[in-house]
Amino acid sequence: MAAEPEEQENQLSEAQIAVHWREEETYPPPDSLIGQANAADPAIIERFGEDHFPDCFTEYADLLTWDTPWDTVLDTSRPPFWKWFVGGRLNASYNCVDRHLATSRNKAAFIWVPEPEDQATQTITYQELYRKVNEFAALLQDYCGLATGDRITFHLPMVPELPVAMLACARLGVIHSEVFGGFSGTACGDRIADSGSRILITMDSYYRGGTLVDHKVKADEAIEAARKLGQEVDKVLVWRRTPGQYASKSPMVEGRDVFVDEILGDYRGKSVPPVSMPAEAPLFLMYSSGTTGRPKGCEHSTGGYLSYVAGTSKYHLDIHPEDTYWCAADIGWITGHSYIVYGPLLLGTTSVLYEGVPVYPDAGRCWRIAERLGVNIFHTAPTTIRMLRKVGPEEPRKYDYQFKVMTTVGEPIEPEVWRWYYQEVGKGRAAIVDTWWLTETGGFLGTTLPALQPMKPGSCGPGALGIHPVIYDEDRNTVEAGSGRAGNICIRNPWPGVLQTIWGQPERFVDVYYRKYCADPDSKDWHDWPFLCGDGAVQAADGYYRILGRIDDVINVAGHRLGTKEIESAALTVEEIAEAAAVPAVDEIRGRVPELYVALKPGLRAGPDIEQKVTAAIEREIGKIARPARVWIVPDMPKTRSGKIMRRVIAGISNFTDVGDISTLANPEIVDEIRHFVQGDKLAKGEVPRELSPQEAEEIRNFGKTE
Ligand code: PRX
Repeated sequence: MAAEPEEQENQLSEAQIAVHWREEETYPPPDSLIGQANAADPAIIERFGEDHFPDCFTEYADLLTWDTPWDTVLDTSRPPFWKWFVGGRLNASYNCVDRHLATSRNKAAFIWVPEPEDQATQTITYQELYRKVNEFAALLQDYCGLATGDRITFHLPMVPELPVAMLACARLGVIHSEVFGGFSGTACGDRIADSGSRILITMDSYYRGGTLVDHKVKADEAIEAARKLGQEVDKVLVWRRTPGQYASKSPMVEGRDVFVDEILGDYRGKSVPPVSMPAEAPLFLMYSSGTTGRPKGCEHSTGGYLSYVAGTSKYHLDIHPEDTYWCAADIGWITGHSYIVYGPLLLGTTSVLYEGVPVYPDAGRCWRIAERLGVNIFHTAPTTIRMLRKVGPEEPRKYDYQFKVMTTVGEPIEPEVWRWYYQEVGKGRAAIVDTWWLTETGGFLGTTLPALQPMKPGSCGPGALGIHPVIYDEDRNTVEAGSGRAGNICIRNPWPGVLQTIWGQPERFVDVYYRKYCADPDSKDWHDWPFLCGDGAVQAADGYYRILGRIDDVINVAGHRLGTKEIESAALTVEEIAEAAAVPAVDEIRGRVPELYVALKPGLRAGPDIEQKVTAAIEREIGKIARPARVWIVPDMPKTRSGKIMRRVIAGISNFTDVGDISTLANPEIVDEIRHFVQGDKLAKGEVPRELSPQEAEEIRNFGKTE
């Protein structure tokens, strides 16, 4: 089918628009870091240069203990299903726990900080972790009948039981799939069904923002949702946040639900030998959003993934075994899997887990934790940094801690926010590593080496060690560094952390990440298979990349990816709604928030009751994280002549930016009508966004372009 004229116009725009923003000054690595860092010798950059691909990554694999050494570093025989360290065998739980016992038995593996400040911090040594993981693995094997290759779903909050469960699965070769605790029961049920899990692990409750949240209720919804999709769950294991005290309104279902603390005693002192897994065996699934409603179960491998997170944790986060490292993300996202659990434990360090909200009960909470525990590496997202800055810009000064490295991850950081992070949180003495990557990539793609490479506010840096990015325009021409032109950032080479496939959807895997820039689908040469990251980017003359945001119809809310289709299908479950379109609106704290435009079925009248129903449906289907900032009931959507909703036009309206050329729309007159209604209402309520940066305006202009 021939493309509509507006589609053709769109395809040209992104690569051709020159983006003129100010180049930021760079900051040198702090003196204190130079010399002590794991990557202190610039020769490492050369060692990971293109000439040394793929063997350079054996340096990462050598950080692990292998039961059987690999015979092939990279098998490219079935592109793009790359296999790393083929022939090698290892166990993830052994590597994270057992092998540290000889030297570090009594060292803290995790320090868990409950949200209520009057509750005691829990320290779990490597020895204690070993016991807990073994006992829980025995329970999974015996009580649940789980075996190598089975899948299991967790819907757990930020409690130590979560990493224990992950490592217990890894010990058995059972594939874990953790669903972020803030997701709704329905969203969890979709993922249970997609992964084919028979067992769900949950918790009765947890603290968030000072409230004890009832969480078990979601398990009942999840099981119902999974059943509708044809997946039965046999057992629900329920941890109690306080053993012996059940804090949920949801009744325990006889024969299905069981309190873990009541049966765990049967496995006291049991040990389970770690199953030696092939390097390419799946370790876990992590679901992510994409263009269609069905979530993508990103499958990560055992040997390649673990090598990659160990290596990047060592060199880019500069984790040493004697550090106290705190990543304030949630384990329910990939950041937590890679850089709270697997990376830090592989290196034998101490990883801090915090249950709750960073600003609870006040703006000093994070800095008190850092001071008390002696945290020296701090890892968080721009959303948290913006929030901390807003509620307590001078708060860090009051506390006696000193970070050596600080990370920012998940969304672009505004240079002004970066500078506050550097000056106030880092006290001008810590290196910032801005780490750009995706759920799919297992670990960092673009970032700096903190003691070797300067930092530039708002830019992530060059490619991570061994990662060779390129920016292509729509015609597969390379966009030159320093040209100021934006394009689609891709990674030219395979790397050990890349997802192996989308669980149960191998064609979608090839389509989404490789189809667009594959020169020859029959080629066995990896050079012909660049990986499409899905972000727009520009590269400065110095080689540093600035990430502009997603080029697909994904909204990055507080560093979390939400597919517009997921939000829209949730809205469409409301009987009155005929059409729905979700777009990003720039938000001072959360980066982006979704705004939802809906059109009603004929003959119905708009009213606040419908708006509320839509919001409730989104919370029920996805979770509070996806709650739209505004629901706009409009008479019609701006559409192409083929009937496609032009999301970039309504995104422009929501953000008070130029909506671009609308002359080719089927109904151009609707644009002004919607603009009057939406912008009039926002002006009346004083909700006008600040002027967008060129980078933000570019993102809005291109929103939904690849649909
Ligand atoms: O748009 C990029 C943005 O987050 C997307 C990936 O989201 P997710 O899979 O949820 O993984 C988040 C944690 C790795 C990317 O496509 N993103 C991630 N990190 C950065 C970023 N944008 C700018 N700068 C970053 N450091």
